[in-house]
Amino acid sequence: MAESNYFYITTPIYYVNDKPHIGHAYTTILADVLARFHREKGDETFFLTGVDEHGQKVQQAAERAGIDPQTHCNKMVVYFKKAWEKLEITNDFFIRTTDDFHEKVVQQVLQDLYDKGKIYEHEYGGYYCVGCERFYTTKELVDGKCPQHLKEPEYIKEKNYFFRMSKYQDWLIEYIKTHPEFIQPKSRKNEVLGFLKNKLGDLCISRPKLRLKWGIELPFDSNYVTYVWFDALLNYITAIGYKQEEERFNKWWPANYHLIGKDIVTTHCVYWPTMMRAIGIPMPKTIFAHGWWMVDETKMSKSLKNIVKPLDLIDSYGVDPVRYFLIRDMTLGQDSNFSEDIFIKRYNSELANDFGNLVSRIVTLIRKNFNSVVPKILINGKEELKIIDNAKTFPEKVHNLIDNLHLNDAVETIIIFIRSINKYMELRQPWHLVKQNKQEAGTVLYTAAEGLRIAASLLHPIMPGKISTLLKAFPTADNRKNSFEWGTLKSGEKLSELPILFPRIIKKIEVVKEVQNKGEELISIDYFSKVKLITAKVLAAERVPKTDKLLKLSIDTGEEKRQIVAGIAQYYNPEVLIGKMVIIVTNLQPVKIHGVESQGMLLTAEKGENLTLLTTFDDLGPGSYIS
Ligand code: ME8
Ligand code: MG
Repeated sequence: MAESNYFYITTPIYYVNDKPHIGHAYTTILADVLARFHREKGDETFFLTGVDEHGQKVQQAAERAGIDPQTHCNKMVVYFKKAWEKLEITNDFFIRTTDDFHEKVVQQVLQDLYDKGKIYEHEYGGYYCVGCERFYTTKELVDGKCPQHLKEPEYIKEKNYFFRMSKYQDWLIEYIKTHPEFIQPKSRKNEVLGFLKNKLGDLCISRPKLRLKWGIELPFDSNYVTYVWFDALLNYITAIGYKQEEERFNKWWPANYHLIGKDIVTTHCVYWPTMMRAIGIPMPKTIFAHGWWMVDETKMSKSLKNIVKPLDLIDSYGVDPVRYFLIRDMTLGQDSNFSEDIFIKRYNSELANDFGNLVSRIVTLIRKNFNSVVPKILINGKEELKIIDNAKTFPEKVHNLIDNLHLNDAVETIIIFIRSINKYMELRQPWHLVKQNKQEAGTVLYTAAEGLRIAASLLHPIMPGKISTLLKAFPTADNRKNSFEWGTLKSGEKLSELPILFPRIIKKIEVVKEVQNKGEELISIDYFSKVKLITAKVLAAERVPKTDKLLKLSIDTGEEKRQIVAGIAQYYNPEVLIGKMVIIVTNLQPVKIHGVESQGMLLTAEKGENLTLLTTFDDLGPGSYIS
């Protein structure tokens, strides 16, 4: 069917009252992974994201900033665009609800519905929550307060315009019940059906300019602007040419997925379908509401070293691992916990260990024993056939899981396959085998390398940067870099050099944490004495390029010169450190921080926002032991 070759996916358009955070990043990455996945599968794909610029929240944010709303929006939109660029988001269009074409079409839709009597004028009194930008019925309030914001709403009486939403209640219930894929996951569908057990009212779609100026003016009454949700939801069709280019619109509509968070289920699953019904366009195939990323707030504020703000993770560990983690660790539909600890564990066990080690093993063995030329596959033993069979069947499994939005299971399936290649290597030991039977060792390495290439190709939508680097190093027939087909890897051609893709992350905070957990765990003197502390003199210091926190220090330990990377650039200018005595941990495993090797760690004292380096009372010279 031609229809299935088009794939249209959307994210919510985010309010520009604040900068984007991990939640916004998550939905956007999720949409990006699905968009890339469909593109790579050969579907013609349109991926839409953007920002919601009208309404009270944005007007108030602009007022707080002391600038007019449009200037505020122009400023804020940059943060979103930059963040998405940083995250390698491949949206095909970025809509702003202040775009001319959008405003024009919203007005046309309003006029049309008004002319048809689907919008009417009415005087109304109700409880209005500024945070939600909506009226609440007394029934919906909890102890007289808005259940979302826990604030008492204002009682407001005014003339307004209403959309005859109530008319569509029975139709909507029926539609949801007969289209099980429409609202997902099931729990959200049931939530909406529960909501629809109560009588659905009409929707107030206007705001008097006296109260709110920042919005799209109603075409039939210039004293009013459009309710922000009525304006925002229409972005999904204005962006693809609705009432502008029929052909373009028909090409993409209906959307395959509206991805949303569970906070905006009612607007998307009740308001939006009734609006579409009134307008006379078909329903999108699926509205999918994912859960929350939870961050333990108290932990965050208590210890700045322990937990980094999520978007900062990208600066420390790179885009690809963060994308991987977000997709890997959230079961779609459920809430998930976010912490740097969980991130590092996942990274080390799956990316550094399972994946990274396999890559370096294969590449090193082919380099050492085959002069980097991809060996031929000759004999197909039992173990080889097992890998080959799996390599031929598991991509389809992964595709099916992704089609059903089981993304974390899809990643798990890939990782399980990678682990099976690791086991296969252990079993066949090509590093020994090569001494007895080079051809057979070559077969093992080809099998492992081709399995790895296929697995990596499947991870490409999730980690486009690192995986592209990897795939570029693998010679393939006709340059089909990420084909899932067995045998694409070309024997007889050279494998290029590869950098270490996922260096192990070693945390510096283990000791600090031990101390913070007062009363929870006591350590023995032996445990403590494992940490070797000495004095050292700073010989040179400079900033690590492209970071704002890191300094690279060259230090004299009394015995040797060492390089240490320390996150103190916000507290010390490099010049003032030269000649200073510091205290360092000498027996830490070296780590790479932003590509720079660090052979140890400086001790610091911290309180709130302040930090100071530890030093000694008298100068005994570098290399004095500390106990
Ligand atoms: O609601 N975990 O915009 P918004 C996961 N402008 N996802 C999260 C999250 C978290 N902790 N926090 C936010 C609006 N999100 C409207 C939408 S659409 C026509 C108009 C994500 O800036 C999630 O996708 O409040 C959620 O639905 C969205 O950000 C809300 O963004
Ligand atoms: Mg919100």
